[in-house]
Amino acid sequence: MWQRRHLLGLKDLDKKDIELILGQAEYFREIPRRQIKKVPSLRGKTVVNLFFEPSTRTRISFELAAKRLSADVINFSSSASSIQKGESILDTLKNMEAYAVDIFVIRHSFSAASVYLAQRTKACVVNAGDGANEHPTQALLDMFTVKQRLKKLTGLKVVVVGDIAYSRVARSNIWGFSHMGCEVWLCAPPTLLGRDFSALPVRITYDLRKAVKEADVIIMLRLQNERQSEKLIPSLREYRQHFGLNPDILKGARRDAVIMHPGPVNWDVEIASSLKEKIMPSILNQASNGLAVRMAVLYLLKGAAE
Ligand code: CP
Repeated sequence: MWQRRHLLGLKDLDKKDIELILGQAEYFREIPRRQIKKVPSLRGKTVVNLFFEPSTRTRISFELAAKRLSADVINFSSSASSIQKGESILDTLKNMEAYAVDIFVIRHSFSAASVYLAQRTKACVVNAGDGANEHPTQALLDMFTVKQRLKKLTGLKVVVVGDIAYSRVARSNIWGFSHMGCEVWLCAPPTLLGRDFSALPVRITYDLRKAVKEADVIIMLRLQNERQSEKLIPSLREYRQHFGLNPDILKGARRDAVIMHPGPVNWDVEIASSLKEKIMPSILNQASNGLAVRMAVLYLLKGAAE
């Protein structure tokens, strides 16, 4: 049974917690196929999407997830708020809380933002991506997608490729897939790997061909230009040459390997645009699974808070 009021990361979850969320998501997956795409589970509850950083997939899918569960939803965008007049994130949260909010979904560029705010509110908090720390619902939807495709989530070779040092998606996937009994490999230029990863349950390689060989899952990460990644690689051309997925590299991978990207994709940087037709359906399937997973998370947190 789910007993947590917040979902701040996957590091502190275990296999049973993950299975519970994915099982609930499986149940919610068929709701969009119904004529009336709604259930009353969160009727009378208020969900606030508190986004201090840009987002398309996460913000839209949390909004839709809350609406599909019949909650009232408020979308807060820092660029159109009193944050611009110097109001702090805590005062912003407290003002929202005054409207009897039940769940905050928080994205922020500061790595400890969701923990900091969760410790200071009576509402439930979901971390929708905090700095380079964690993005738990992204990893959950990645695991859900893999389970859907391969019918299992244990004993897999999972390769995470690219801008790992700054990646909250990488961290959540490392914890999530490791808890499920998978072998997680990281592949990146040393400057984009960061030293703290050697302490995590991972194998490291700088050779993409070696990484994708016998891999069941290949997760390509976005090169995060807004976090100055470009200064950490000699050039985009060299990055693409050594760490970009292209048809030649794919020849060395299993034909049934699940290839994913959290989005947004820099085509011809992380993945060759000649593979777009082949890989885009899988990326869109991740997005669609994100809705079911986020419905499950909102539903379980609300149940634990009552
Ligand atoms: N994958 C992901 O978090 O995308 P957004 O930044 O668009 O939400």
